[in-house]
Amino acid sequence: RGEPRLAGRRVVVTSGPTHEPIDPVRYIANRSSGKQGHAIARALAALGAEVTLVSGPVALPDPAGVRTVHVETAREMLAAVEAAMPSDAAVFCAAVADWRTDGAGAEKMKKEAGGGPPALRLVENPDILATVARRAEGRPALVVGFAAETTKVLEHARAKLARKGCDWIVANDVSAATGVMGGDRNTVHLVTGEGVESWPTMDKDAVARALAERIADALKDRQWV
Ligand code: C5P
Repeated sequence: RGEPRLAGRRVVVTSGPTHEPIDPVRYIANRSSGKQGHAIARALAALGAEVTLVSGPVALPDPAGVRTVHVETAREMLAAVEAAMPSDAAVFCAAVADWRTDGAGAEKMKKEAGGGPPALRLVENPDILATVARRAEGRPALVVGFAAETTKVLEHARAKLARKGCDWIVANDVSAATGVMGGDRNTVHLVTGEGVESWPTMDKDAVARALAERIADALKDRQWV
C-alpha cells in the first residue's frame, strides 16, 4: 500500500564531528565526515519519517526533506537533541569529542618568546547517547549507537551496548587500512540484544537504507503516545 513505512514517526539523528574550542581561533576536532549520519537521515526521510538531523561542522549539504540543526560543540549537540525530543527513535552517528577544554579563553593564546607550549586542561563532555538512552521519561522506543573501533570490534560493541543502555550498536572497523573514515564504503555489524548480524561491505548509502528498513521493522508494531 501507499503509506511510507515511517510515516508519522519522529527520528533524531546526530552526525559529523564536534568542535571544541581552545580559544577563538583554535579547536579540537576529529576526522568524522558526517557521510554515514547524513545518509541515515536521508534514508529515514525517504521512508517518510520526520527527521531532525543534528550535525556538527561538516562539508556536506543539508539533506532535502530533513530538518537540519547545525551545532559545533558536544554540549550544543546535546541541547539540540533534547530540544528535538520526544522522538520514536534516535540514531547517534556523530563522533562526539570525548573531551573539551576546561574553559576556552576569550582571547587568542599567544606564543610568548621563551614561554614554552601551554598545557591544555581537558574535561569530559556529556555522553549524548547514554543521556538519551537512560532517560527515565520520554526515552525513544529505539536508541541506536555507533561504535567506531580499530581492534576487537564486536567485543567493544557488546560492552558499549550494555554500558550506554542503548538498544542497538552499529559497529564498524575504522582502522586506517579500511578507509572507512571519510570514505564512501562501510563494513558494519549490527549488535542487538539478540545477537550480531554482520553485513557485507556496502556504500554508506546502502548501509543507511538497510538500517532505515531495520528501524522501520522495529517500530512497526509499536503503539505511540
Ligand atoms: O564511547 P564511544 O564514543 O565509542 O561511543 C560511540 C557512540 O556514542 C556513538 O553512537 C556516538 O555518537 C555516541 N556518543 C555520544 N556522546 C558522546 C560520545 C559518544 O553520543 N559524548
